[in-house]
Amino acid sequence: MILDALARPLRNLRLSVTDRCNLRCQYCMPEEEYVWLPREDILSFEECALLVDVFCDLGVDKVRLTGGEPLLRKGVEALIRMLAANPRITDLAMTTNGVLLSEHAQTLRAAGLHRVTVSLDTLRAERFKALAKRELHPRVLEGIEAVGQAGFPRLKLDAVVIRGTNDDELGELLEYGRRVGAEVRFIEYMDVGGAIHWSMDRVVSRAEMLEVIGRRYGAVVPVAEESTAPADRFVLPDGYVFGIISSTTQPFCRACDRSRLTADGLWYLCLYATQGTDLRRAVRSGATREEMKHLIVATWRQRAARGAEERLAMADRRAPLVQVGELKRDPHLEMHTRGG
Ligand code: GTP
Ligand code: 5AD
Ligand code: SF4
Repeated sequence: MILDALARPLRNLRLSVTDRCNLRCQYCMPEEEYVWLPREDILSFEECALLVDVFCDLGVDKVRLTGGEPLLRKGVEALIRMLAANPRITDLAMTTNGVLLSEHAQTLRAAGLHRVTVSLDTLRAERFKALAKRELHPRVLEGIEAVGQAGFPRLKLDAVVIRGTNDDELGELLEYGRRVGAEVRFIEYMDVGGAIHWSMDRVVSRAEMLEVIGRRYGAVVPVAEESTAPADRFVLPDGYVFGIISSTTQPFCRACDRSRLTADGLWYLCLYATQGTDLRRAVRSGATREEMKHLIVATWRQRAARGAEERLAMADRRAPLVQVGELKRDPHLEMHTRGG
């Protein structure tokens, strides 16, 4: 097992397959236009599959496709087929906004995708329009229904909770999750990438969420489990299990085994990292497999990233990580480029 400087293994790879998105969620990608990655830099499916295979040699067994919106990448099922054929990947997942999911659910499942996570921040179409700047809420709900019909055994729904935006919907979202057989996860608003409207007073902490949920349902009990997943899970009195991802007030950096590859082949060791390792160059310059492994191992061994913990330590001095001008200049600073 390859360990980093804080003894964290290299196991979990998030593969962003496009930096494009068909929504403009205000916490992630609030502007209409950005500098997009040059088309010729985007890794082909063969290049992605090769890199993932090299990562698997080094211990990666969880792979998640992200974006932008991964379903905007043409023919993404072909990539999933290649990855699904790799028996070393024991967990092959996708995070999507759901807009195109009803058209793709069957083909994704047939291609061998194991599971899907859909972002769903609100159940109200009007709110969705204000938050995501597109009138596509019904499509998202159709997409979520299609997941079950396509035979996926598990579904997670992710909601970023923002004060004054959707923090009055926790109960409704839980009820919806229960109805569609999904595990709902509430995510604390993070000051990453494109979150230029972020401020601490808009963050609803895990403690506050638990209090609100407890008032509605009665005792909320933590599920005792060892895991490197960012979500802490809780069970309601009737047995329904949901999660909270408290990256802002209680970061999980100490157990973080994840890294991310952008669509143009830069490898980032932390969500908050501003510099990545250029694996596209390695692949395109004809580096051997051994050379690529060497580069990856040497880079991982030096990893000491604790981005979210460092942000937490800033306390009152905390403000959005990157300013809009910088974001517009360098797409790699974006959450939508490196996969949420
Ligand atoms: P599973 O637990 O395997 O289902 O996946 P996941 O929770 O990693 O997947 P998902 O893509 O749904 O991530 C959920 C949320 O966790 C993201 O939207 C982020 O808000 C947060 N998150 C994901 N990766 C990181 C990370 O590397 N660092 C931090 N601090 N937060 C992250
Ligand atoms: N805070 C928390 N989560 C975020 N995501 C994007 N931006 C943020 C942010 N500022 C995550 C959400 C979304 C996914 C695509 O990325 O979970 O559902
Ligand atoms: Fe991992 Fe960085 Fe996220 Fe911390 S902030 S959990 S180190 S990716």
